[in-house]
Amino acid sequence: MTAEYKVNGSVAVITLNNPPVNGLGHATRSAIVDGMRKALNDDAVKAVVITGAGKAFSGGADIKEFNSPKASAEPTLHTVINVVENSEKPVVAAIHTVCMGGGLELALGCHYRVVSPGAQIALPEVKLGILPGAGGTQRLPRVLGLEMALNMIVSGNPVPSEKLAKTKLFDQLADGDLMEAAIAFANKVADARPLPKVRDIKIDYPNHEGFLQFSRNTVRAMAGPFPAPVKCIDAVEAAVTKRFDDGLRYERELFTELVQTPESKALRHAFFGERAASKVPDVPEDTPTREIKSAAVIGAGTMGGGIAMNFANAGIPVTILEMKQEALDKGLATIRKNYENTLKKGKLTQEKFDQRVGLIKGTLSYEEIGQADIVVEAVFEEMGVKEQVFKKLDQVMKQGAILASNTSTLDVDKIASFTSRPQDVIGLHFFSPANVMKLLEIVRGEKTGKDVLATSLKLAKKIKKTGVVSGVCDGFIGNRMIEQYSRQAGFLLEEGALPEQVDKAIEKFGFAMGPFRMGDLAGNDIGWAIRKRRYIEKPDITYSKTADLLCEMGRYGQKTSAGWYDYKPGDRKPYPSQVVNDMIVKHSADLGIQRRKISDEEIVQRLVFALTNEGAKILEEGIAMRASDIDMVYLTGYGFPLFRGGPMLYADIVGLQNVVMTMERFARGRHGEAWKPAPLLARLAAEGKSFN
Ligand code: 3HC
Ligand code: NAI
Repeated sequence: MTAEYKVNGSVAVITLNNPPVNGLGHATRSAIVDGMRKALNDDAVKAVVITGAGKAFSGGADIKEFNSPKASAEPTLHTVINVVENSEKPVVAAIHTVCMGGGLELALGCHYRVVSPGAQIALPEVKLGILPGAGGTQRLPRVLGLEMALNMIVSGNPVPSEKLAKTKLFDQLADGDLMEAAIAFANKVADARPLPKVRDIKIDYPNHEGFLQFSRNTVRAMAGPFPAPVKCIDAVEAAVTKRFDDGLRYERELFTELVQTPESKALRHAFFGERAASKVPDVPEDTPTREIKSAAVIGAGTMGGGIAMNFANAGIPVTILEMKQEALDKGLATIRKNYENTLKKGKLTQEKFDQRVGLIKGTLSYEEIGQADIVVEAVFEEMGVKEQVFKKLDQVMKQGAILASNTSTLDVDKIASFTSRPQDVIGLHFFSPANVMKLLEIVRGEKTGKDVLATSLKLAKKIKKTGVVSGVCDGFIGNRMIEQYSRQAGFLLEEGALPEQVDKAIEKFGFAMGPFRMGDLAGNDIGWAIRKRRYIEKPDITYSKTADLLCEMGRYGQKTSAGWYDYKPGDRKPYPSQVVNDMIVKHSADLGIQRRKISDEEIVQRLVFALTNEGAKILEEGIAMRASDIDMVYLTGYGFPLFRGGPMLYADIVGLQNVVMTMERFARGRHGEAWKPAPLLARLAAEGKSFN
């Protein structure tokens, strides 16, 4: 059973008990109905209280059940709510901590609601690409009024219970013991008749048409490719315009429609993907962690500054070490300016500004960082420099300190070998700008201690990052995959496309930025340096030479006001460049390639399936633990469109057999060797399976 039934005097108490958040899965729903039946059949029981055990009243419908037959098995949530609402004995919801989605819908089906202060009240379904499907869109406007309810339903954001205490949603705000208050309330209303039902409340909103039309226009503009927010408005409109039961039916139709959409699948995948990423099978949740009360960062360049800000934002004092006073001053000034900009935009209070700036110190001396609990190295990407730094860290850092590297491509095991304590060494790969980007690749070296990994995962949460664990390989998960994507982008230029077409096609697919605009932003010289290294280390890999020719022209990107595009000084807007386009066309001619018209569809497939195929190799090699980890890397670090769920889920939705057939077609073209399906992809496709 996942709900307990007890009788307290003349009040029956049904306590949902389905950890972690009392999700309303089939077993829990059945247990509620059983409890109600017992209460109704027991003459000694005069009223019922429904509450939740542990850290929630209820987090809502069990999202894990959505794709299984259990989701629609009786008793459905509708049935449960009907049983409660139609009970001839009063039912009181005793709400605390979390009351969301189906949990709030259940509470709205009760005759009365008593709540603790500080409880998070929400209908967050929209964040999963759906809408409240058990009466939430029909009942919430009846207790909160149209505007407030619509805001909650369309945003999905939680509201603290005390802010709603004076509305019809709650009958009592219980300052003391919730259960005591709820049972006293139940005794008080035991004989009250008729029992109040939210469904009977009339919504009085003159000119609702105007308000809803205005809301629709605003929401449509903000919702982008997601259908759910506008459908939420349609459902709420039904609460005003239709009879209650018709509104309920209409809400159900919209819910059923939305739950099938790829957008909802993608959002649910991201919800679980984010949580799964923090779980490592051989590092159980009770693995001891080290305390992180202070931090140090080596290098105050592009990355070091942003990394230091993460610590300060989380209230952890941090010292940045540089080689020269000038570089240190410059780095600290950039950090200050970043905070000042946020202050000016009103996104930071003066108090928080002072606090955060005050937590960041600079130094030129290793002696000053020796006592830090963690040090993150962000110096030049050269093994020789990393060697110097890690040997020094090994000498000066206290025992038990975590020694992390922000390297984006170098071998973390080799870096660890420069120290006498490889168990303390780990890769913490932040993404630029490090104070903004959500992704943190946590690179687990061969000898990295389990406690160091567990501490890093905990730290990721503390600094509000999505931590994804990667094994050691060149480029880890994200950059190793992006290399295949960039190679295809280069080949497309040789074969007939121009940068603008490639960027537009992939941006229309939903990427935040196409590969060429991205190259110009990050600096084309960075990729050039990596390729030069690869030409020596891995001479078998082929690249289009266009990017090298571009760099030879000195066109490094926005920083030189010229890259794949032309830029006007001080302006980030890209203008197609005639000289670059001429260079590309000439290069095709030099290679003897007859340029052809390439469709946007081909561009998208080549870029995205290049990611998927490399992702499959990474998965099979165990560099990533699960397909959803790869998707999280791409959703949080590379601007992959959230509504498509990441390169692995996208391939699943397209169908792996279709992906393989498309790759076989590409394999007959130039550089066909790149299109050999990864063994895992080929196998899953042949078996009719998917990655996720
Ligand atoms: N169903 C199933 N599992 C759920 C769940 C749900 N509704 N909500 C949370 N969980 C699970 C998480 O997957 C996680 O599991 P794990 O430990 O195995 O990884 C665990 O509960 C804890 O979740 P968090 O790490 O997010 O814990 P927090 O304490 O930080 O947050 C929370 C708790 C606020 C409830 C947050 O989990 C949340 O926002 N959950 C989603 C709530 C939601 O969207 N509810 C609506 C569901 S859809 C619905 O009700 C449809 C109805 O209208 C018909
Ligand atoms: P950067 O060149 O902007 O900054 C490096 C800083 O390190 C400079 O200020 C330099 O003075 C300092 N430095 C060099 N040697 C030092 C030493 N021995 N001791 C102390 N300070 C030293 O470089 P950036 O871009 O910040 O990169 C740093 C690291 O982060 C590299 O490993 C890079 O691969 C990685 N990285 C870079 C990303 C980016 O987008 N720039 C993204 C993710 C990782």
